[in-house]
Amino acid sequence: MNVLVLGSGGREHAIAWKIKQSEKCEKLFCMPGNPGTALIATNLAGGVNDFDAIKGAVLDNAIDIVVVGPEDPLVNGLRDKFAADSQLANVLFVGPSQRGAMLEGSKDFAKEFMSRHGIPTASYKSFTSVDIEQADKFLESLQAPYVLKADGLAAGKGVLIPETLEEAKASLREMLGGMFGAAGNTVVIEEFLRGIEVSVFVLTDGKDYLILPEAKDYKRIGVGDKGLNTGGMGAVSPVGFTDAQFMKKVEERIIKPTVNGLAADGIDYKGFIFIGLMNCNGDPYVIEYNVRMGDPETEAVMTRIDSDLLSHLEAAAKGELSGEKIVISEEGALTVVCVSGGYPQSYGKGYEIFGSEYLERSSVEDKIKIFHAGTSMKEGKLVTSGGRVLAVTVNGKGIEKSREIVYPEIDKIMYTNKYYRSDIGLDLLKYEK
Ligand code: AMP
Ligand code: GLY
Repeated sequence: MNVLVLGSGGREHAIAWKIKQSEKCEKLFCMPGNPGTALIATNLAGGVNDFDAIKGAVLDNAIDIVVVGPEDPLVNGLRDKFAADSQLANVLFVGPSQRGAMLEGSKDFAKEFMSRHGIPTASYKSFTSVDIEQADKFLESLQAPYVLKADGLAAGKGVLIPETLEEAKASLREMLGGMFGAAGNTVVIEEFLRGIEVSVFVLTDGKDYLILPEAKDYKRIGVGDKGLNTGGMGAVSPVGFTDAQFMKKVEERIIKPTVNGLAADGIDYKGFIFIGLMNCNGDPYVIEYNVRMGDPETEAVMTRIDSDLLSHLEAAAKGELSGEKIVISEEGALTVVCVSGGYPQSYGKGYEIFGSEYLERSSVEDKIKIFHAGTSMKEGKLVTSGGRVLAVTVNGKGIEKSREIVYPEIDKIMYTNKYYRSDIGLDLLKYEK
């Protein structure tokens, strides 16, 4: 099969890397890709929302299957555009329809979906600027801290968790007043859940599903989970506190009702579902749905799949997932993201990355895999081009051992203002058997 992966981050590099191992993979393309994907695939010019460029690439390269990395094109209806185009309608497509993508594109839609289908989540109410007084009353009925979420996509920044009622009321007004643009025209206010978070990933064809390895993401910029929220500073899989008993609850209480709920609502969903969960004393609650894989979780998760991902993706896109079996490695994965100092606020770009002899080490046999996130080529040199620059994954048994291997590898990669969290995995040591 000829495959096109849409996107340009570490997630897409990891997905492409896994697809490349499949015997079914003939030609592999990424749009736009990055210097990492260029090592294993052909990068094509064009953006993930550029329908004409995507259509041209699919037709020119006889693409059999399109795999969408980020949520944006899905929320904008890329799948629906394929379905409506006579030249593209038969191309296999991994990613939900526009309605399905509302699970991520609208928090209010996601909450209504969960209450309709009895899926455990924090209790909530949604408000617009006309009901400020009711919103204040609802806040007064809750206990601190308060969780306020912009309804629409806000580049992962649309959640505020004020500590006091006064701050919560002020934040509510800022959100409704345009702090996150139109995404905040509706604000979801919900109960604060206490527990530990875990990311669960599902591939579904709308009827059946495969559960991928779970992962823990490290969202804050600073050691000890301090400071600003980022796109993700590291990931670990498996996650010690998600034992078989917990995962059984996740499957019965969340995954099955989600897949069945989509079908019952008549939503065409063939793609990934990333369920952000809170483990509250052993019971799972949904914090959010995403309609894509997580980043950097994917850079850990992909390295633990021993079966043929492309075969799974093909089956999902065809609606034939019932015959597929996923095989997950016993070895764990630990990923550390190297960022540019200053991220997630302003940071410099264009710094040359040294140590490139290490950067190409991402073959299947290597214990270390380096996935490119924010890199580009400038005058023949590899340079930084984003906040998150590289994701370095190590596979092996045990977090302590993995940490001993990964950090010296990171030391070999050099660029100005390199920063990474030195504590990835430490919080999970206590759950290891
Ligand atoms: P979201 O964008 O919905 O994933 O929210 C961002 C982060 O806010 C999550 O990863 C959680 O750490 C936190 N969060 C969101 N909702 C809640 C909640 N109801 N209770 C506690 N923490 C939450
Ligand atoms: N790592 C969290 C996300 O991809 O949204």
